Amino acid sequence: NEEGRQAALKTIKGYQWKKKILFAKEADPVVDPVTAKRKNEAEEPEDDPKKPKLSAEESVVNAVTPLAHLPYEEQLAMKETAMKDFLTFLTDKFQSNIPEMRKWLNEQRSANDGRCISLESIKPSPIVDGYRNKCEFSIGKSREGKEKIVGFRIGQYKGGHTAVASPLPCKNLSPGSKRVVEHMQAYLDQSELRYFDVVSHEGHWSQLTVRTTERSEVMAILQLHPQDLSKEDFEAEKQKLREYFTSGPGSSSGLTSLYLQLVGKSLKEKGFQTNFYLVLGDTHVTEELLGLKFRISQDAFFQVNTKAAEVLFQTAGDWAEVTKDSVLLDVCCGTGTIGLSLAHRVKKVIGVELCKQAVEDAKVNAKNNGIENATYICGKAEDRLPSVMQDISDSEKVIGIIDPPRAGLREYKIKDKGYMAGDNILNRLCRPVSIRYRGTPFRLTKAVPVDLFPHSKHCELILLFQREDSISDSSEVPAPVKGPSTKAKNLSTAGNEKPAPLSEEGQTAAAESQNKQEDKSVNPGMTEGAVDDVKEAEMKDEVDAE
Ligand SMILES: C[S@@+](CC[C@H](N)C(=O)[O-])C[C@H]1O[C@@H](n2cnc3c(N)ncnc32)[C@H](O)[C@@H]1O
Repeated sequence: NEEGRQAALKTIKGYQWKKKILFAKEADPVVDPVTAKRKNEAEEPEDDPKKPKLSAEESVVNAVTPLAHLPYEEQLAMKETAMKDFLTFLTDKFQSNIPEMRKWLNEQRSANDGRCISLESIKPSPIVDGYRNKCEFSIGKSREGKEKIVGFRIGQYKGGHTAVASPLPCKNLSPGSKRVVEHMQAYLDQSELRYFDVVSHEGHWSQLTVRTTERSEVMAILQLHPQDLSKEDFEAEKQKLREYFTSGPGSSSGLTSLYLQLVGKSLKEKGFQTNFYLVLGDTHVTEELLGLKFRISQDAFFQVNTKAAEVLFQTAGDWAEVTKDSVLLDVCCGTGTIGLSLAHRVKKVIGVELCKQAVEDAKVNAKNNGIENATYICGKAEDRLPSVMQDISDSEKVIGIIDPPRAGLREYKIKDKGYMAGDNILNRLCRPVSIRYRGTPFRLTKAVPVDLFPHSKHCELILLFQREDSISDSSEVPAPVKGPSTKAKNLSTAGNEKPAPLSEEGQTAAAESQNKQEDKSVNPGMTEGAVDDVKEAEMKDEVDAE
């Protein structure tokens, strides 16, 4: 917020670092890519006369499951091509940012169709229809003007196009979600409260989230803007919902848990102390994944396709070659799924997660599954990882699994291997050794897409990065060209070329040129990037002191 920004500016401005005075100025934040994409889409004329006018049903299917009209094999082929393009893009990035990699990249490119490694065949989702265990539906007005439709938005905000259409034709919805949508629609139809209008900000009902599990549990979270409702009005609404879904027409909805979630301004002043109010049933749902049971809180993250997530985690574990002497860092661990599903194969799991409730879930999940070698830390990974790593001795085999990658993660702290995406972080992983980046560089050695989202254009991509000195001689991946190393004597001779020892000046120059490259990629307006840079400066100071 503005207050924080001003405090940061005050702290940094005039700070003396290495006999230089730091200067800081306000910068405009760079547009978030998702916002930019939405803006571009919004600028496309929606009422283009050349475009065939689609029915609401066609529009919703198109928007949510744009590949649903294709056989699944064709969908997979399209995603595989998209991931090959991504690998080519990544290879180009390596090529332009890391000169030390060029010789190796050229050899690899000619063997792999322009890419630094070959892409393994996409792993399909074990279930193709009805796989989504979580859906968020909007509550709005249909194109025809019918109010309180529970569904997906088909219009764009521009020009007030905010129409919502029924989600029932979408193939990815689970049968449990569809049932709840139908029952909630019936409830809202008879409710006196209106839908929340995203343009005027008037009205009450705004969103319905449904979570379903393999064990047929169903949780619904109905979002309400209280506006001028009093505490008593709210309690009355809660009571109405409870009766409707326990003894009324909604009793056949299959709901095992129902929450009301309050959203909007000044809730505390209106007397509402929390956002979530349990209306009926259990506080959590429990999902089964890889033979373990996972408790999931109403707002904690869980992979939306449980069966395909099993394929994802199993593959990640196999590739990471986790063993009984590994310490597994589950970074951004959510409810602990990745770490806990691999806990029996490693010495210790350490999970770091921002969301307090998810951390609580992860701890309960470890306990409920009889897992004693997992610990969980609540906080920002970028803040907490440095101290976590300090407590791990250098002789330990550390494997980091990061899903998803976050700007600001301290990639140099991942000692052995890591999974991540996001080209900036990937670039830095493969950087040559310098004062800034200790340990041998990483190499991308494997890549495989896993389809978690049939009928949509998305999929997950697992990338395996290994430290050069941990790539075995027998590896199918050609030996990488090594960069300069501060720990040359510790490097294995897996590569053909021995690392050239660098003078102190050479090492400093390498670090600075790396810094310059990164300055271009660091977004000056983003808090995370700025904080990261200050931390980098501090870290560099530490290294210099050493
Ligand atoms: C996509 S979920 C993945 C969860 C888990 N890795 C999995 O695969 O089930 C991302 C998680 O990262 C957490 N998260 C986001 N930013 C974070 C940060 N800076 N540090 C730690 N956790 C973060 C979110 O709260 C969320 O639970």
